Amino acid sequence: MSLKVSIISLGCAKNLVDSEVMIGHLHQAGMSVIPEADKADVVVVNTCSFIDSSKEESINHILEVNQQRGMRKRNQAQKLIVAGCMAQRFNKDLPDALPEVDAFIGLDQVTKIVPIIDDIYAKERAAGDKPVTFHEGRSTWIPDYDTPRFRLTPKHFAYIKIAEGCNHPCTFCIIPQIRGRHRSRTVESVVKEARQLVAEGVKEINLISQDTTYFGMDTWEQRPNPRTPVDSGRGTALTTLLRELNAIEGDFWIRLLYTHPAHWSDELIKTIAECPKVARYIDIPLQHISDHMLGKMQRETSGDYIRDLIARIRAGIPGIAVRTTFIVGFPGETKADVDELAEFIEQTKFERLGVFRYSQEDGTRAAKMEEQVAKKTKESRWHRLMALQKDIAAQVSASYVGKALRVLVEEPGVARGEADAPDIDGRVYVDKKLKVGEFHDVVITGFHEYDLLALPPGVEPREYKVAKQAQ
Ligand code: F3S
Repeated sequence: MSLKVSIISLGCAKNLVDSEVMIGHLHQAGMSVIPEADKADVVVVNTCSFIDSSKEESINHILEVNQQRGMRKRNQAQKLIVAGCMAQRFNKDLPDALPEVDAFIGLDQVTKIVPIIDDIYAKERAAGDKPVTFHEGRSTWIPDYDTPRFRLTPKHFAYIKIAEGCNHPCTFCIIPQIRGRHRSRTVESVVKEARQLVAEGVKEINLISQDTTYFGMDTWEQRPNPRTPVDSGRGTALTTLLRELNAIEGDFWIRLLYTHPAHWSDELIKTIAECPKVARYIDIPLQHISDHMLGKMQRETSGDYIRDLIARIRAGIPGIAVRTTFIVGFPGETKADVDELAEFIEQTKFERLGVFRYSQEDGTRAAKMEEQVAKKTKESRWHRLMALQKDIAAQVSASYVGKALRVLVEEPGVARGEADAPDIDGRVYVDKKLKVGEFHDVVITGFHEYDLLALPPGVEPREYKVAKQAQ
């Protein structure tokens, strides 16, 4: 059946890869995938369920698609499928809560999207029938290098999901319950995929999973002696993977996202330092610095460990930009905890930093903890840390002025440096004539908060002019 399908992809890059896998399978079956939901025969909403606001966003999209199809006569036969983390997490409740949906599919059913669509058309629902649910319990699936996939990112950058699931016990997080236990791909599988992407012209490979530093560790216990160190040599480990990716011929960056502080090693620091294709950038969510909070969050780290690790990373990888995130307002957080965090941020001067207000998520242990922090307190703690980081970010940006920087051009006039992950960090405004999707060497002439300018003096990006006029 030649159908037109539209996919609305919400949530993180891991979910985006799942959307890409669905599109790959749809194309393989001869179906066309179109951006306009109102012109599609089938709309798939690939949802996120991380915190309340992401659930709300997912539900709003579902209701909006349903409302739109009700408004146009030609759309009334349109099918609505809900996939992703929300469908996986609430597979028992959603069919009753959202009867307007035609089908819900779990995370491991992304490769079965075509037979599922066929099935929905084959068995038309009678009015009043419940939506169909395609769900096979706990998620265990992981893509391989030959899994059909159609990339939604620009030609020059791509995500590779090197592992899926999470074994960490963080008390605030629901993701392990949604995405299942950690399972890694093989080094060979990831390298094959990366080779293919580089051959297609990709200039930046972003390695993702729930915890990239845990890559391979789930396979270690199958070794005769699980204590034998394998993060050097031939074992399945991130260090082995990075060295093999670095050996692929071509001009490209490898970017490491979502690392966990508990699994960093000196060998990993040395490997990054010795692999020039690995971007001088690490994403390492620390969540807090006070032992009181780290203990309650079950982060498997301590303040002293984190301080020492950041110092070792900075000493071992010259020029590294460290991105982290913190949570404020976690149950039981005191003023002293926040003071300690503020002092740590002030001293460490992270190149990139985000702060989240704690969100009380049903199904997590933290949600049941006493001493939940009042919304107003969370808010004021968040403002305090963000104001602090704004000054630090200005100092970091100022330190680039007058220096040469290699950038990857994203769109005419807008680029990113090694210290900027796609869709997360700042931008570098460059000459519009620089070719999109290519590396260029520029000199930084100025900055504006988190963004850098590599433009002749007096020339400003259009966005700034518009912002000034609006003031
Ligand atoms: Fe990502 Fe949201 Fe799922 S953050 S892993 S899409 S819950």
